[in-house]
Amino acid sequence: MSATPDGRTPTGAQTVGDGQLLDVERKPESPARRDLPPAKGDSDLRGQTPDDMETPPDALLAVRGLKQYFPIRKGFFNRVVGHVKAVDGVSFFVKRGETLGLVGESGCGKSTTGKTILRLQEATEGRAEFDGRNIFEMGKDELRTMRRKAQIVFQDPFSSLNPRMTIGETLREVLAIHNLAKGQKATDRIGELLSTVGLRPEHAVRYPHEFSGGQRQRIGIARALAVEPDLIVCDEPVSALDVSVQAQVINLLQDLQRKFGLSYLFIAHDLSVVEHISDRVAVMYLGRIVEVADADELYLNPLMPYTQALLSAVPVPDPRVKRERIMLEGDVPSPANPPSGCPFHPRCQHPLKDADCAKIVPPLADKGGGHFAACIKVPLGAGNPA
Ligand SMILES: Nc1ncnc2c1ncn2[C@@H]1O[C@H](COP(=O)(O)OP(=O)(O)OP(=O)(O)O)[C@@H](O)[C@H]1O
Ligand code: SF4
Ligand SMILES: [Mg+2]
Repeated sequence: MSATPDGRTPTGAQTVGDGQLLDVERKPESPARRDLPPAKGDSDLRGQTPDDMETPPDALLAVRGLKQYFPIRKGFFNRVVGHVKAVDGVSFFVKRGETLGLVGESGCGKSTTGKTILRLQEATEGRAEFDGRNIFEMGKDELRTMRRKAQIVFQDPFSSLNPRMTIGETLREVLAIHNLAKGQKATDRIGELLSTVGLRPEHAVRYPHEFSGGQRQRIGIARALAVEPDLIVCDEPVSALDVSVQAQVINLLQDLQRKFGLSYLFIAHDLSVVEHISDRVAVMYLGRIVEVADADELYLNPLMPYTQALLSAVPVPDPRVKRERIMLEGDVPSPANPPSGCPFHPRCQHPLKDADCAKIVPPLADKGGGHFAACIKVPLGAGNPA
């Protein structure tokens, strides 16, 4: 059996024994229900899901049942022959001043989630409430105001910066579009923004190619900050940077969060990147969230075999701590043709994995203490209270 970094087995630290059923009175099954896959022990399937939960009053962003299906077209008539289920029923919230880390392997739907929420792509289904208002129902004017309050920073700022404009011109344009400052006031604000992100006001006359990768990411952040947002979707903002520069940019984002009370949806494919910045972490697999918990709880007590495998790849600075690497076998299945039941079952190495895993779609259920996991083999009580 593979162990997690802190020596846990893939079943996690469980206060209820594996397979141990709670003594619950059962009703006789109706004939229609007999066709359904057998319930796998009540303790495994119960638990509040994020869809049942009331949105916390201090939530700035609340996403419910978000789906983004891209049509697959073929043939002379461009007929729709299927869909890529890039995001398949995702629900979460981000509180004011909080950072929610969103992690998962390449292609699991992280960027699509971020872009759909900000309505850079129209959603197939679901809601995304920003400050209590559904973004997907906003008219043009309201959407423009919302776009000011919710910004996105991309992995590669170079491709989103106009190479023919100086940094000063780019920032001036943003300030003008949103009617925030003109003339000398804009010049002063540009200098202030560049200083805020650790650059110098004189940098305003330079072009994007005259900066290093880390500096360009600082410019991307300055551009987002120019409009005084409340929420920033950070889509892999440090993935293209050297490790030392990654730390600088993450520290900068943390400082800015404290200074301006910002909320972040921080997307990364690597759990080590989100570890220090996140208050809570959501793990995505094949278009769904499969685990969410407070960051400390998730790193100490990962419940999903998938999260355990991701975490086993995170280097530990202490050489005395031995970490056994759990290798994820096989590729991520296609979101156009996801596996039946638990989407992770073809790759799962959980010792209790059985035929039910291919039949039952595990709900993302609270396994205790607000630690949500979508696994029918993780019993209630496996999560630790915050
Ligand atoms: N416009 C599109 N049309 C069709 N399929 C798309 C489109 N955009 C994304 N996809 C598909 O949706 C899935 C999720 O893509 P997405 O970019 O959200 O993944 P990701 O988790 O951000 O990956 P990465 O870590 O590589 O950035 C992928 O299978 C991708 O090929
Ligand atoms: S296949 Fe899915 S439900 Fe079954 S043990 Fe693995 S993660 Fe849990
Ligand atoms: Mg992406």
